[in-house]
Amino acid sequence: MNTAEVKNLLCKALREKPETLRASRKMGNIDFAKLRHMGLNENVFGMSPKALEAISEASATSNLYADWTQKELKEAIAKTFGLTTDYVITGCGSSAMIDAMGTAFLDPGDELILCMPTFPAIIDTAQMHGASVKVIPLKDDLKYDLTRMLMEISSKTKMIYICNPNNPTGTYLGIDELRQFASECPDDVIQVYDEAYIEFAEASDCQSIVEVMKEMPEKPIVCLKTFSKFYGMAGVRVGYSLAQPEISSWLAKCGTQFGVSKTSQAAAAAAIMDKEHGAYVHEQVRRGREYLAQEMKALGCEVYDSQTNFIFFDAHVDPLEVQYRMMEKGIFISAQAGMNRVSVSYMEDCERFILYLAEIMHSLKATA
Ligand SMILES: Cc1ncc(COP(=O)(O)O)c(C=O)c1O
Repeated sequence: MNTAEVKNLLCKALREKPETLRASRKMGNIDFAKLRHMGLNENVFGMSPKALEAISEASATSNLYADWTQKELKEAIAKTFGLTTDYVITGCGSSAMIDAMGTAFLDPGDELILCMPTFPAIIDTAQMHGASVKVIPLKDDLKYDLTRMLMEISSKTKMIYICNPNNPTGTYLGIDELRQFASECPDDVIQVYDEAYIEFAEASDCQSIVEVMKEMPEKPIVCLKTFSKFYGMAGVRVGYSLAQPEISSWLAKCGTQFGVSKTSQAAAAAAIMDKEHGAYVHEQVRRGREYLAQEMKALGCEVYDSQTNFIFFDAHVDPLEVQYRMMEKGIFISAQAGMNRVSVSYMEDCERFILYLAEIMHSLKATA
């Protein structure tokens, strides 16, 4: 069969799905596997030693299926947020939970509202379910425009997505603003808050929506979380949602939980309880982020304050070229929305990145 023949067999939503908005990159002959990772917001400081130990123990009995009730993991998550386990649904990364939001709630004709640039996976999900997407630009300070989002809600609007703190900008919305927004959002619009990076936050008002969810049980609020970032477990693939049991019971029917392996469940349960490792990661990321911001400002870049493990910056030269030349020197960073994004790494990699950035900016400006 050729591609066109297969296309005729596809479901309508996939056949008509627009190109993804995920960042593209020029690769040339570069071998991605050999690059230092400063472009995917991974946590290079690694997972908790207790999680590693749990993986090794659980692997010894991995000939058996995992506990399908996920008792240990759900109890560990629920305890962390002062909830009961019926608020928790897990999946292979928060990507799986984003997909589940589409499966559970979006029909053709429904509309999703979000601000861009943001993490675009939910757009792919909406389009896969035939829903339309209303995109509102971030404000000049690169924060979500909550006023505009509320104004744009129509009878078609089924879901609103807010990434807090936002990827790729690192900017955040304070909890009081979000509480106000949540209360003004109609009761029949699902509010999705993606908090993939919130554990890195330093600002006292950069807080999880979970407390608001508890205060407003009448609002369909879903909070998405992941073990991929702060917990350093991107390759382990565990994410989860926190929502009222009435919502969670439907998400449970979307099949995400069966994919979470025995080793992944054990690792995540151990990781979320290890506060000592969490404090270590927090400190390493804070140091790296401060260093990068300070040095990039000194080079003349515009740097956005970040509550995450990455920094969004404008080097005032072509971001795709900065990305490509950085890869030629051995470091992978991101280029999107007309700017670059660099993830915090080991101090020696941060230092190398600054050195290369200075060289790249200099040579691009010289040839401009
Ligand atoms: C904002 C945000 N949400 C969700 C994800 C998906 O993460 P994972 O599927 O690894 O949990 C990412 C990954 O980069 C992200 O940046």
